[in-house]
Amino acid sequence: MTELSKTGAAVGEPSTASPAPSAFLEVRDLKVHFPTDDGLVKSVDGLSFQLEKGKTLGIVGESGSGKSVTSLGIMGLHTAGQYGKRKAQISGEIWLDGTELLSADPDHVRKLRGREMAMIFQDPLSALHPYYTIGAQIVEAYRIHHKVDKKTARRRAIEMLDRVGIPQPDKRVDSYPHEFSGGMRQRAMIAMSLVNNPELLIADEPTTALDVTVQAQILDLIRDLQKEFGSAVIIITHDLGVVAELADDILVMYGGRCVERGPADKVFYEPRHPYTWGLLGSMPRLDREQQDRLIPVKGSPPSLINVPSGCAFNPRCPYADVPKDNVTRTVRPELTEVGSQHWAACHMSQEQRERIWTEEIAPKL
Ligand SMILES: Nc1ncnc2c1ncn2[C@@H]1O[C@H](COP(=O)(O)OP(=O)(O)OP(=O)(O)O)[C@@H](O)[C@H]1O
Ligand code: SF4
Ligand SMILES: [Mg+2]
Repeated sequence: MTELSKTGAAVGEPSTASPAPSAFLEVRDLKVHFPTDDGLVKSVDGLSFQLEKGKTLGIVGESGSGKSVTSLGIMGLHTAGQYGKRKAQISGEIWLDGTELLSADPDHVRKLRGREMAMIFQDPLSALHPYYTIGAQIVEAYRIHHKVDKKTARRRAIEMLDRVGIPQPDKRVDSYPHEFSGGMRQRAMIAMSLVNNPELLIADEPTTALDVTVQAQILDLIRDLQKEFGSAVIIITHDLGVVAELADDILVMYGGRCVERGPADKVFYEPRHPYTWGLLGSMPRLDREQQDRLIPVKGSPPSLINVPSGCAFNPRCPYADVPKDNVTRTVRPELTEVGSQHWAACHMSQEQRERIWTEEIAPKL
């Protein structure tokens, strides 16, 4: 794993991090940029949020909005991606239980990974090694952090496979990943992620590749396990419907930034950003055709290299031409509080947004 580097800070320079927050996880002004031949890709560009233990945060946004890069950044794995030859630039602060991870010793972060924080990856095949049995991989994950013999670890692996609903776990523990169905592989990966009772679990689109019934089972499973272990959970998805049910808070990402965040019921029932309105309008419903990958609104996601000045959603926003007080198009809207613990980044006034939501959008949903 490549070493983390803080943008602008020479190696060995003392951390300039501010005092530890009281929240279990606090991300402050996180930026993850990738130098490429075409320019600097600003995959995550100033993201902040908090999460307490026992709570679930849903991160929603369309493909390429920076959801996975955010979670890999928290885990200290952002440089391990497919183009990870050049060092990613990461800045900001990531506080986990009183430790600032970006300025911490990489060895320390490595130890936290798996024990205190774990991730369920978007694609289980990329996380499971094809040449080792499921059991061997869970045993390995457990023994890195616990000084136990192989027998004890194997018992733990079987117990975890049972816990995530794999039938005949004492037999399936010796299966290879390719012998499992997609849903079973996803369960096995959840078992591996949870084997050390992590206090922070990041589930990156844990159900994208699965059919609807299995999706529901996996989400129920994550919810049950969270209750049991009291972990903090981040669920990443394209589908606002998934997080509306599961999450306490929702963060909506667009072009590497947060455009709206707040309590789940507020973001779901009183959203205050046109992009969130678009996401809600594209949610699968019984009377709509099932879509594999949801297209929230017409048009393409913004370039993360040549980020336009002003609101990144402008080219796709149906309300871009609504007259606004005292702002020009070239000014980027910052997050402003629109309700208790509820923020949105849009130049329209609160009244304008409330009116559009109540009169034009909500009745059509
Ligand atoms: N190592 C890298 N080098 C250059 N660009 C990268 C790198 N990793 C990610 N990106 C770019 O950063 C952007 C955000 O990627 P990310 O994987 O976080 O999106 P996502 O929101 O998880 O999308 P999806 O829903 O498709 O999983 C994308 O445009 C991606 O191409
Ligand atoms: S600032 Fe303008 S373009 Fe951006 S979301 Fe609000 S209305 Fe749309
Ligand atoms: Mg992703």
